[in-house]
Amino acid sequence: MSEIMRVNVGLGERSYDVLVGAGALTAAAPELVRHFPRGRAILITDRHVAGLHLERVSETLAAHGLEVEPVIVEPGETSKSWAGLARVVDALLDHNIERAEAVIALGGGVIGDLTGFAAAITKRGIDFIQIPTTLLAQVDSSVGGKTGINTTHGKNFAGAFHQPRLVIADRDLLATLPLRERRAGYAEIVKAALIGDAALFEQLEAAGADGLDGAGLDAAVAAAIAFKARIVAEDEREGGVRALLNLGHTFGHAFEADAPKDVIRHGEAVAAGIALAFAYSAHRGVCSAGDAARVEAHLRAVGLPASAAELAHTDWQASSLVSRMRDDKKNMDGRITLILARGIGAAYIDRAADEADLLSFMETQLS
Ligand code: NAD
Ligand code: GLY
Repeated sequence: MSEIMRVNVGLGERSYDVLVGAGALTAAAPELVRHFPRGRAILITDRHVAGLHLERVSETLAAHGLEVEPVIVEPGETSKSWAGLARVVDALLDHNIERAEAVIALGGGVIGDLTGFAAAITKRGIDFIQIPTTLLAQVDSSVGGKTGINTTHGKNFAGAFHQPRLVIADRDLLATLPLRERRAGYAEIVKAALIGDAALFEQLEAAGADGLDGAGLDAAVAAAIAFKARIVAEDEREGGVRALLNLGHTFGHAFEADAPKDVIRHGEAVAAGIALAFAYSAHRGVCSAGDAARVEAHLRAVGLPASAAELAHTDWQASSLVSRMRDDKKNMDGRITLILARGIGAAYIDRAADEADLLSFMETQLS
């Protein structure tokens, strides 16, 4: 077991800890079992994660007197739906869950978002515990309390803010994660550093591709979570500064929306989006070209795309991408909101992007 790091998300009576490191589940088991007064835990997971990790997780918790009752859903975004939500809520009610009991989410962002939303509404709100099994879920989706499902109107269009009671980010669970998924999650660590932690970015640069695993990864995961925790503590419901966490996402969501389903990973779109946000900041003269070049170089060093052309889909139209940006949830008063940067670790919110300039920039980028 490596050193286990503990990061607190300070939200008054809804505060909670995130335990980070290889072996974190074993270390956290004694405090996890306190949330289960009936000696049993309903655990939501997907079929894929169940095959890889359910037995070991169940054994670990059984050693602390907790019997796991799994509810297994299909992997992928289709479970983050009204039907998927009904399945999980019904399963919790079928198990006669009581308000004093928590429910466990074991899986990636899909399972965390779905379970969190089910917990928010079942019996008007029960507790939940996140055991994230993808790097993206460990550094981003399991922390901060955004839960929800997709609707025909768009991704994450129905949901609730519902904070977990405990998050256990155990690196051992990432051992089975394909490199592509690992890299996609790593993009969110780069994002955190670029928004507001220049020292973390220097550490990531120094480690290069070695930082994708091992103790170096643990330190970066803990630093990215600590950064997110500070933002969430300041602005839990995204009235202001939390929007910074969308660095790279306005461009990224446009790539995801315009690419055929499942061709690019969210983190890949975000990586290319981060590079574009810095390139656009340099184009606007608010950020140095040197900083934008450093961002691109680091993304490429770890195997992430740093431009639209490096994504697995390449048939992009600037006008279509800008039109997708117009649909972004962050927008206000019909103007495109962009997260831009004055430099590494110095992101800011631009609430009124100049659409004509953005379109011409995108045309240049894609030519
Ligand atoms: P995911 O949950 O779909 O997991 C990706 C794939 O990896 C799945 O097939 C899953 O079965 C598999 N998997 C999970 N753990 C594994 C492991 N340890 N080894 C091998 N395979 C494993 O996707 P994700 O990338 O983790 O999360 C994406 C979701 O997170 C999206 O729905 C997105 O909207 C959401 N999200 C939410 C927030 C938030 O703040 N709530 C933030 C970012 C993203
Ligand atoms: N992933 C962005 C947020 O949690 O606000």
